[in-house]
Amino acid sequence: MELSVEQLSTHDIYRLLIGAVQPRPIAWVCSQDSANRLNLAPFSFFTVASVQPPVVAFVPLLDGSIGEKDTLKNIRQTEEFTLNIVSHSIVEQMNKTSATLPHGESEIAYAGLSTISSETIDVPRIKEALVHFECTLRSVQSFGDEALAGRLVLGDIKHIHIADEIYDNGRIDQIKLETVGRLAGNVYSTTRDTFEINRP
Ligand SMILES: Cc1cc2nc3c(=O)[nH]c(=O)nc-3n(C[C@H](O)[C@H](O)[C@H](O)COP(=O)(O)O)c2cc1C
Repeated sequence: MELSVEQLSTHDIYRLLIGAVQPRPIAWVCSQDSANRLNLAPFSFFTVASVQPPVVAFVPLLDGSIGEKDTLKNIRQTEEFTLNIVSHSIVEQMNKTSATLPHGESEIAYAGLSTISSETIDVPRIKEALVHFECTLRSVQSFGDEALAGRLVLGDIKHIHIADEIYDNGRIDQIKLETVGRLAGNVYSTTRDTFEINRP
């Protein structure tokens, strides 16, 4: 199949991208607005952008009807966020936090989650997550104003929290962390089926 991007609809492109780029890790981003109202939402367009300095990247897409998502509005206001890692044990709660609630209404209470204060920023972390990154906003790159246009958020990691039970001599025990990956639609993967391959 040969597909010219110009002839594909936005929805077609979206379906092909999420079908090809997977499994995607999930950034569970907690942010707050200038009135200290908290927000929590998952973003699977997420990766590490730099190790030194440590920088994370995630992409809230423009929502056709509402424009920029609350997460991005909040981060523009306060220039801070925590990025929480999603383990399999809390995947149901993560899914609940993708609900679109009225601005100012917290997904945290809605999903039955709790927060814990951060060390270097005002935005708290999600207590139930096993890894948290405290981040400050580095930049937002815009890819236009069409529905599903990306806003690439880059954040500098200022502090890392790792639960003692998954920390082993400078490494994270990936079996115990058991992150989930997002595939297409409502399908997810775990890290249970792994294999090793030697590098040349
Ligand atoms: C697993 C998962 C991954 C998601 N990834 C993204 C993403 O990468 N970008 C995006 O714009 N929305 C993504 N969403 C949808 C947002 O989480 C959803 O729009 C959320 O309501 C945004 O919250 P906010 O408006 O409070 O910022 C994802 C949803 C789920 C369940």
